[in-house]
Amino acid sequence: MKHIAVSSFKGGTAKTSTSLNIAASFAKFHKKKVLLIDFDAQANLTTGLGLDPDAQDSLAPVLQGEKDVHEVIINTGIPNLDLIPADTWLERIEVTGNLAANRYSHEKLREILKPLDYDTVIIDTPPSLCWLTESAMIASEYSLVCATPEFYSVKGLQRLGQFMHNISKRHPLQVLGVSLSFWNPRGKSNEAFLGLIDETFPGKVLSTKVRRDIHVSEASIHGKPVFEVAPKCRAAQDYHSLSKELLKRM
Ligand SMILES: Nc1ncnc2c1ncn2[C@@H]1O[C@H](COP(=O)(O)OP(=O)(O)O)[C@@H](O)[C@H]1O
Ligand SMILES: [Mg+2]
Repeated sequence: MKHIAVSSFKGGTAKTSTSLNIAASFAKFHKKKVLLIDFDAQANLTTGLGLDPDAQDSLAPVLQGEKDVHEVIINTGIPNLDLIPADTWLERIEVTGNLAANRYSHEKLREILKPLDYDTVIIDTPPSLCWLTESAMIASEYSLVCATPEFYSVKGLQRLGQFMHNISKRHPLQVLGVSLSFWNPRGKSNEAFLGLIDETFPGKVLSTKVRRDIHVSEASIHGKPVFEVAPKCRAAQDYHSLSKELLKRM
């Protein structure tokens, strides 16, 4: 069982879209048994799969020791793809109830996920270096870094790199790759951005880039991965090739 924390320091870098679409690709084209975890209180992944966050439990009661993890796993309707939804209870969960007094609260997610049986667990994290993101990284062997070809996105990677470096001193966390979305193959500053990313994460930029494609947001309005809505579109091709590249690296 491999765990991947999908992360960036910033919102709008396609973390949620990447989590959803590579998970769907692993399940659909590579016959992997996949668990997606929505670990962002904004619950975009949960709504992006057509579910109502207020109608389901998140990991919050599991982290508080009130429920078993199996009770909060739901099937997405897509074969081999399960989800643990998010809800607003995840916000500041670390200062709530049992967790507030637990010195090792960061390790809790890792313990919760241990007994599960999946090929891949993909954790979508919030756009900040908070308790949730740190817990997701501690629970993972791999971090998939998301970025966009923009100055602030690329700059934010340095802090993310430092944050992950600190975690990797205590836990075996590796950067699986840096995935670029909203890619314009003719962008004037592409080489400059790739060079800057390579300084922070040498050799980690993935060769697949996910091009800008309106079908990504359209699919999430329908509560589906892009393959289900527009199987031949640019983004579907890119996510398919990204998932192959990731599997090769794992
Ligand atoms: N390749 C893409 N092309 C066009 N729109 C995209 C693409 N990837 C993501 N989006 C859209 O951009 C917005 C932000 O993406 P999201 O995955 O929610 O980012 P994050 O989770 O990092 O905040 C969403 O509306 C999403 O549908
Ligand atoms: Mg998100």
